[in-house]
Amino acid sequence: MTKIAFLLNGTPVNVDDVAPTQTVLDYLRDFEKLCGTKEGCNEGDCGACTVMVTDPTGQVRALNACLLFMPQIDGCAVRSVEGIAHPDGTPHPVQSAMISRHGSQCGFCTPGFVVSMAVAHAQGAQDHDQILAGNLCRCTGYAPIIRAAVAAQSAPVPPHMHADHGLLAQLHTEKAVEAAEDQRYYHPTSLDDFANWYFENPKATLIAGATDVGLWVTKGLRDLPKIAFLGKLKALQSLEIADDHISVGAGVTIAQLKDAIGDIYPSFGQLLSRYGSHQVRQAATLGGNIANGSPIGDAPPVLIALGARLHLRQGKRRRVLNLEDYFLEYGRQDRLVGEFVEKITWPRAAQNLRCYKVSKRRDQDISALCGAFNLEVNAQGLVTAGRIAFGGMSGTPKRARFVETALVGHPWTAQTIEKAAQAFTQDFTPLSDLRASSAYRETTAHNLLVRYFNDLAGKSIDISEVTL
Ligand SMILES: Cc1cc2nc3c(=O)[nH]c(=O)nc-3n(C[C@H](O)[C@H](O)[C@H](O)COP(=O)(O)OP(=O)(O)OC[C@H]3O[C@@H](n4cnc5c(N)ncnc54)[C@H](O)[C@@H]3O)c2cc1C
Ligand code: FES
Ligand code: FES
Repeated sequence: MTKIAFLLNGTPVNVDDVAPTQTVLDYLRDFEKLCGTKEGCNEGDCGACTVMVTDPTGQVRALNACLLFMPQIDGCAVRSVEGIAHPDGTPHPVQSAMISRHGSQCGFCTPGFVVSMAVAHAQGAQDHDQILAGNLCRCTGYAPIIRAAVAAQSAPVPPHMHADHGLLAQLHTEKAVEAAEDQRYYHPTSLDDFANWYFENPKATLIAGATDVGLWVTKGLRDLPKIAFLGKLKALQSLEIADDHISVGAGVTIAQLKDAIGDIYPSFGQLLSRYGSHQVRQAATLGGNIANGSPIGDAPPVLIALGARLHLRQGKRRRVLNLEDYFLEYGRQDRLVGEFVEKITWPRAAQNLRCYKVSKRRDQDISALCGAFNLEVNAQGLVTAGRIAFGGMSGTPKRARFVETALVGHPWTAQTIEKAAQAFTQDFTPLSDLRASSAYRETTAHNLLVRYFNDLAGKSIDISEVTL
C-alpha cells in the first residue's frame, strides 16, 4: 500500500492508498474540509488554489494546488490559507493589510492572493506585479491588493512561516518516508533505477511539474494507469554554468532556469518572466517543456537558436542530438520507447541573443509566436554565422534556415534584412488558429527580424509601453 506523508499547516499527515492523480486541491477541500483553497479554473490560470509548499531541501514555493498531484507533496510541508494566520488566530501581516487596504470584495480570489503574498513576504520578494500575475481578481482590482502587499513588506515574518523546514526534518526521522514502487505509480530517487524501470515500463506516463499532465487529468479526464513522478530525481536537477557551456537537467524548473541565466542572457530571462505565472514557473520543468513537443513552448525556439543539444537516455544507453532534430512533426518527436530527457546543454557564448514572445496578453499567456535570433556580426559589419528559430510558425519549433542563409555572408544592413525577411515564406506556412491568423504570423515574423536589427543597433522597444 502506498503511503504519503507530509505536513499540513504544521501537523504531520499520513495518507494511505491515495490515488496518484488526486490533486492537492481536491484533497484539501474534499478530505480535509479545508475549503479556503478555492477552485476557480482548475487549470493553472487563476491562482485561487495557491498553496505554499516547502520541500525537504527547504525550497519554498507558491504552487497551484489544482495542478499538483498528491504524490508530489510526499515529504513536503503544505500550508493552505488556513495555515497562514498564527496558530493563535492572529492574522498574518498580509491578511491585516488586505483588510486595511480594502484588498477584497467578493473574496473568492483572496485566499490565493493571501498565500502568494505570504510566501513572497517570507522570502522578502517585493516584485509584486510579477509575483501576483498568476492570481486573478475580477472585482476588487489590483491597486488595493498591490497596496496591501507593499504595506505588509516591513512587518516581521511570523515565526511559523519559517518553521516548516525544521518540522520536516522531524517528519523524516519519525516516519522515514520512502515512496516505494507499487502497481500504480513509482516515485524513484535513483536515476539508474528509474532508467531501468522506464525501459521496462515504456507506456508509463512521466510526470515532472505536472503543468501539462495535470490538465490531461483535470480537463481531459484521462486515466493514467501507470505513472512515474520525477520530482525526487536529484540527478535531473543539476544546473552547471561553465565558462564555455551551460548544462541544465531536465528537472530544473523554469523559475530556477530564469534565475540562473537571467544575467547571462537578459532577453531569455525576460522571456521566461512571461512564461505562465509565478506559480507555473515554479512547477514547470525545462524537460517537460521540451519533451511535450509543443509547437508553442517558449524555451525550445530559444534553445535551438543557442545551438542546444538534447541528452536522451534509454535504460543504460545514452544519445545526444541537436534539439531541432528532436521535433519531427506536429505531435511526433525523435524519442525511442522507454527513452527520457536527461539534460540539455548549449555553448554559453551568445552575445546577440534576443528572443521575442508575442501573445495576446503580456502575462499568463501562451505564445502566438515566439522568435529567437542569435547572429554573429563581425567588425566589418558582415553576418558571419547565425541561428534563427521560431515557435508558433509551424507544427514544431523550427529553424528559419532560408532566412539564415539569406543573412549569413551578407552585410548587416536594413536592405539585407528586408530581402532576407522575404525568405520566411520558404521556411514557414503558418496556420490560422485562435491565437493568430496565418497572415498575422507571417507579418509578425518579418517585423521581429526588423525589431532584432533595431535592437542590436541599440534601438530596443519596451513592449509594455503604450504609445498613442
Ligand atoms: C497556466 C499555464 C500556463 C502556461 N504557460 C506557458 C507558457 O507561457 N509557455 C510555455 O512554454 N508553456 C506554458 N505552459 C505549459 C507548461 O507549463 C509547459 O509545457 C511545461 O514546461 C511543462 O513542464 P512540466 O514539468 O510541468 O511537464 P509535465 O506536465 O510534468 O510533463 C509534460 C510532458 O513532458 C513529459 N516529460 C516530462 N519530463 C520528462 C522527461 N525528463 N523526459 C521525457 N518526458 C518528460 C511528460 O511525460 C509529459 O508528456 C503553461 C501551462 C499552464 C497550465
Ligand atoms: S483553480 Fe485556477 S489556478 Fe488552480
Ligand atoms: S475579490 Fe472578487 S475576484 Fe477578487
